[in-house]
Amino acid sequence: MQNLLKVYLNLESETRKHCERVRILAVQIGTRLGLNQRELQHLSLAAQFHDVGKIAVDPAILNQPTRLTARQKEIIRLHPQIGAEIWASLGGDPEIAFTILNHHEHFNGRGYPFGRAGRSIPLPSRIIAIADALDAMLSNRPYRKAMSPAQAAMALLAGSGSQFDPRIVRLILSRPSFTAPVLQAYIHT
Ligand SMILES: [Fe+2]
Repeated sequence: MQNLLKVYLNLESETRKHCERVRILAVQIGTRLGLNQRELQHLSLAAQFHDVGKIAVDPAILNQPTRLTARQKEIIRLHPQIGAEIWASLGGDPEIAFTILNHHEHFNGRGYPFGRAGRSIPLPSRIIAIADALDAMLSNRPYRKAMSPAQAAMALLAGSGSQFDPRIVRLILSRPSFTAPVLQAYIHT
């Protein structure tokens, strides 16, 4: 864990902050889904480290304000595999490595790296994928301003069943009271 933490702390600061926000969101979603303590612990760690593979990506690419080239996209798309390898090679739980590996899969099978679909994507990866997208939508990026919570909710709905697990989207949107405090936090950052 010591070495894993060292790698984490060496991540570029925006990536690290993103991981922390995704962890908080993911655990909130997992709690609502009724995950038990062990599952929540797994989810929390996997979310915190989901982008650890970005340690291998030049921060200039991660923060590039202009459109990425095809080659740059290819490099970024390696980060789930690199992250899973780092996690496993530094002695982390292999199940968490598997969750990290699958966090960019889409529910309809059009994600990466494998194109896994539906329930063949581990549940914690499906939760992290939504928390990850929500955080991206609700944060300012070098090339665009943050969406409002209402716009983010619409985007989640638009991606339900294609990018996102529809059951989890339904849960989030049917209980605004549970996401409201989180969404509110973004308004002030
Ligand atoms: Fe990622």
